[in-house]
Amino acid sequence: KRPAGAPDRSLARPVTKVGIVGAGLMASQLALLFARRLQVPVVLTDLDQERVDKGVGYVHAEIDKLLGKGRVGPDKANRLKALVSGAVDKAEVFADADFVVEAVFEEMKIKKQVFADVEKVVSPEAVLATNTSSLSITEMAADLEHPERVVGFHFFNPVAVMPLLEIVKGEQTDDATLATAFATGKALKKTTILVKDSPSFIVNRLLGRFMGEVGKIVDEGTPLAVADGAFAGVAPMPPFFLLSLVGPAIALHNNETLHGAFPDRFYVSPNLQALVAARKTSVYLPDFSIDPE
Ligand code: CAA
Repeated sequence: KRPAGAPDRSLARPVTKVGIVGAGLMASQLALLFARRLQVPVVLTDLDQERVDKGVGYVHAEIDKLLGKGRVGPDKANRLKALVSGAVDKAEVFADADFVVEAVFEEMKIKKQVFADVEKVVSPEAVLATNTSSLSITEMAADLEHPERVVGFHFFNPVAVMPLLEIVKGEQTDDATLATAFATGKALKKTTILVKDSPSFIVNRLLGRFMGEVGKIVDEGTPLAVADGAFAGVAPMPPFFLLSLVGPAIALHNNETLHGAFPDRFYVSPNLQALVAARKTSVYLPDFSIDPE
């Protein structure tokens, strides 16, 4: 059955090579998923060779884990490893990519620049997908020569296990792009839903409300471990564990975006702001302390 709002699947274009911009944790998880499910070459790119090597190294280590668990055999593991490569220079490796996903830092200016660079080297039909969790797809595409090939393709952490994929249609996204996104999401074995291009889409908007409230509870004086403990057996992961998994900077960015769009409804925690300003990557630190004032 076609997901609600998805265009005719006959419009979908084949995906024979995938380019991923970024080689951080999210990007590397995506590389593994694409290689495993689509069985096509996947190239990770980043600003320098060290980042690229780290990303490819992560994917290879995850493949070894799958091998260790017996989820893939030795031949398959080797084939998967051979499918995933990395490069610093996008021009050569992206030239024949027909589906490029960006998973770089969550900032509009950077993402626009990434797509402008990628557009110079890919074919006019190549899909440009963004894993943004909160930014406008329409705005991201606005200055491109072919804004109709940009689509939101938002995964959840950990990518290997979370079933949902939010597909976001920008104002100019055309049906062939959307159909390709849905067909690819299905091939990746994700549950695909079409969501409106609005701040933080659906899941992160709901999550922002929830995380804002639990942040406020801690800011008001409840110890963090107590707030987390209150969720035992209620949620799959206590809220501050989830915040550490997602990353404090991304969680803060989400709440700031939502606060900007709906100031009356979204809370931005000063403790979380301080944690991110101190470049901490986990909330399980004394820094996330409560100011009794
Ligand atoms: N990477 C890869 N695989 C992972 C993983 C990770 N980080 N964490 C867990 N897994 C795998 C495990 O290897 C295991 O796989 P096998 O069955 O093959 O062994 C499987 O997931 C289950 O793991 P656990 O036995 O540890 O099970 P669990 O009951 O602790 O569940 C969980 C783990 C699925 C992550 C669960 O805790 C959960 O659902 N947490 C909530 C996650 C969530 O809400 N994510 C959304 C965050 S919001 C977001 O990402 C949006 C954004 O843009 C910011």
